[in-house]
Amino acid sequence: MEKMRRALITGITGQDGSYLAEHLLGLGYEVHGLVRRIALEDPERRFGRLLKLRDRVHVHAASLESYASVFHIFSRHEFDECYHLAAQSFVAESFGDGFSTMNININGTHYVLAALHELQPKCRFYFAGSSEMFGKVREVPQKETTPFHPRSPYGISKVAGFDLNRNYREAYGMYCAGGILFNHESPRRGHEFVTRKITSTVAKIKSGLAGELRLGNLEARRDWGHAADYVRAMHLMLQQEEPDDYVVATGETHTVREFCERAFAVAGLDYRDYVKEDARFYRPAEVDLLVGDASKARRVLNWEPTYSFAGLVEEMVREDLRGLAGAAPHA
Ligand code: GDD
Repeated sequence: MEKMRRALITGITGQDGSYLAEHLLGLGYEVHGLVRRIALEDPERRFGRLLKLRDRVHVHAASLESYASVFHIFSRHEFDECYHLAAQSFVAESFGDGFSTMNININGTHYVLAALHELQPKCRFYFAGSSEMFGKVREVPQKETTPFHPRSPYGISKVAGFDLNRNYREAYGMYCAGGILFNHESPRRGHEFVTRKITSTVAKIKSGLAGELRLGNLEARRDWGHAADYVRAMHLMLQQEEPDDYVVATGETHTVREFCERAFAVAGLDYRDYVKEDARFYRPAEVDLLVGDASKARRVLNWEPTYSFAGLVEEMVREDLRGLAGAAPHA
C-alpha cells in the first residue's frame, strides 16, 4: 500500500491555508499546520476558517520570528511537502511597518528553508510569491520572465523570498518551487482586502447596518481569481519532475470600480449611491495594472481556473449576505 503523504502548511489558518488543507485532505494527505502559539490559545477566533477541519489537521506551535522554533518542528516531524504561505500579506500595512513585514516575510522564509536544508533536504517546498513583485509593470501581461519592480515593502520582501527560494534550488539542489500568484479571493478573504471590504459592506448596507463604503483608488486594476482554484496550482507545482516557478492568474483584469459595480448589483443596489473615495485609503506608491499570463501553468501543470470574475463576486456577496441574514439594523 502507498504510504500516506504528509504535508506541512505554514499559514494554515489563513484563506489559502484553509483551502489548501481541504484540497490535500481530499487527496489523502496527512495535513499538518504551523501556527502561532496565540492561535492555539484562542481557537474560536483564530481557527474560524478551519473549524470543519480542526479534528483532521495536526497543528504545531512555532513562530516564524524564531529559527529555533521552526527548527524544533522539523527536528520532530518529517514531511514530504511544505507549503510556506505564512506572511504579513497586507500591502497597505507594509507601508506602516515595513520592518516587521521584512522580518516575517524574508527571515521567516529563510528560517524554514535553512531548517529544511539542514534536516529534510528532500522535502519539496512551495514559496508563495506574489504579483506584487511586478509592481510598476514592465510589460502587460506579466509572465515568469517579466522583470520585477516592487512598489511596497511587502513587494520587496516577496522578491527577496523568491530569490532565496531560487537560490536554495540552485545552490543545494533542493526541490523549491515558486508560485507567482495574482490576487485570489473568496468568502474567506480577510476584511482588510478590498474585495472582502466591498462585499461585506454591501451586505451591511443591504441589511441596514451601514450607509456608505469608503475606498481608496477605484481605478486600480487587478487580476482576481478564486483561492480554491489557486491552491490546486500550488499542489501541482510540487508534483512535477523538476522544481520551477509559475505565474498563476486568470488573464483578465478589472478595476476596483467594476468590482464595486458588480458586487452592489448582486444585492440589487447601485454602487454610485454608496461608494465614496477617501484619501486615507490611497497608498504612497500604487501598483496600477496587474494582469497575468498563466500559459506556462496551463501548459506544464495542466491547470485551469474554474471561476469567472462574475461567479467570484457573486459567491462573495451571497456568502456575506447569508452571514448577516437576520442581523438587526441599527435604530
Ligand atoms: N485594501 C484596500 N482597501 N484596497 C483598496 C481600497 C481600500 O479601501 N481602495 C482601493 N483599493 C485598491 C488598492 O489600492 C489596490 O490597488 C487594490 O485595491 C487591491 O488591494 P488589496 O485588496 O489590499 O490587495 P493587493 O493587490 O494590495 O494585495 C493582495 O494581492 C497580492 C497579489 O497580487 C494581497 O493578497 C497580497 O498579499 C498578494 O500578494
